Amino acid sequence: MTFTEPVSTPLALLLLGRGSEPASERGVDCPGELPPASDPTLVARARTAREALGDRAFVLGHHYQRDEVIQFADVTGDSFKLARDAAARPNAEYIVFCGVHFMAESADVLTSSAQQVVLPDLAAGCSMADMADYQQVVEAWDVLADAGVADVTVPVTYMNSSAAIKAFTGEHGGTVCTSSNAERALRWAFDSVVDGGAGGQKVLFMPDQHLGRNTAVLQLGIGLDECVVFNPHKPGGGLTPQQLRDAKMILWRGHCSVHGRFTAENVADARRRIPGVNVLVHPECQHDVVLGADLVGSTEYIIKTLDAAPPGSSWAVGTELNLVRRLADRHPDKQVTFLEKTVCYCSTMNRIDLPHLVHSLESLARGEVVNQITVEPRMAANARLALDRMLALP
Ligand code: 13P
Ligand code: SF4
Repeated sequence: MTFTEPVSTPLALLLLGRGSEPASERGVDCPGELPPASDPTLVARARTAREALGDRAFVLGHHYQRDEVIQFADVTGDSFKLARDAAARPNAEYIVFCGVHFMAESADVLTSSAQQVVLPDLAAGCSMADMADYQQVVEAWDVLADAGVADVTVPVTYMNSSAAIKAFTGEHGGTVCTSSNAERALRWAFDSVVDGGAGGQKVLFMPDQHLGRNTAVLQLGIGLDECVVFNPHKPGGGLTPQQLRDAKMILWRGHCSVHGRFTAENVADARRRIPGVNVLVHPECQHDVVLGADLVGSTEYIIKTLDAAPPGSSWAVGTELNLVRRLADRHPDKQVTFLEKTVCYCSTMNRIDLPHLVHSLESLARGEVVNQITVEPRMAANARLALDRMLALP
């Protein structure tokens, strides 16, 4: 193995915000004094600190962030747009990433070593990213090698993964993708030549099985029976060597704990309740939810679709609640509802709140860098290979 192994643990479910693993999606406790959430001057404090930082800081906000945070974002976007925006700001000393840990890691990989990336709450991880541990991926690749298929397989990893897995992907000839370019990434992977030999006959898609399946089946026309699910908790992934040889898409057994909760029954229920409703969902939703929907796409796609929708139209939207609420407020002339009645916010995205943002901005304004996210240089170089391949996708 040529790759430097990251510090990792096989424990999958440590509580977020506890422990001491800055390289993990689980994060760590935030050091320092946070202002109380009840402080009525928080907005003014954030504004003052932001103004004091001026162009030295660039604040990025993912669409799932709270309103109280998003108001301070210099740019908002989905994970693809934010990765590009971070890379396009070489003069900002500080990149303040209001999103989750894997996004801040990618920003660190894509920015220069002189720039420092700050995640306002180090406990803002992602449960999906945590479902693919580096060591598990190494072992999975060995299983593929034993089945004789590793050298015709191209790894494609969703942005929602650790830097270590992006580095593994870069080292093994693969690419990163996001929900807005997964189709192009898969086409690229199936067209690519692996290790100077055979073309990509198979893809190992990590860690979101739903995005992988939805894209392969609905956009590339791959059969459901050509997709297998690799369970890292079972010997051999729970698959026989023959199943691996027959498969075209080897889907990692991971999912988003927010989007994975929408059901086909939610879609049917929305159609019963709202005559003429258009159901619009994110591709991290389960396959039968996507099949039942009218439209599917990334967060940027969802926003653009609603912006372009005619007044008076009705929409049931299956994505994170902060975004759906904001879209409903932005389009009072359209009926925008949440696809399900009880699904909540992404709890880790929501960890970035005003007290954490104020703490980060005020610390930076007095020259103290807190909650910095750094990716070890060798890992960063390999992760960058995979991220650059994504940024160069046709
Ligand atoms: P996008 O930002 O690519 O739409 O992904 C959604 C998501 O779950 C981010 O964590
Ligand atoms: Fe992770 Fe899902 Fe939250 Fe995105 S919405 S950060 S994929 S848990």
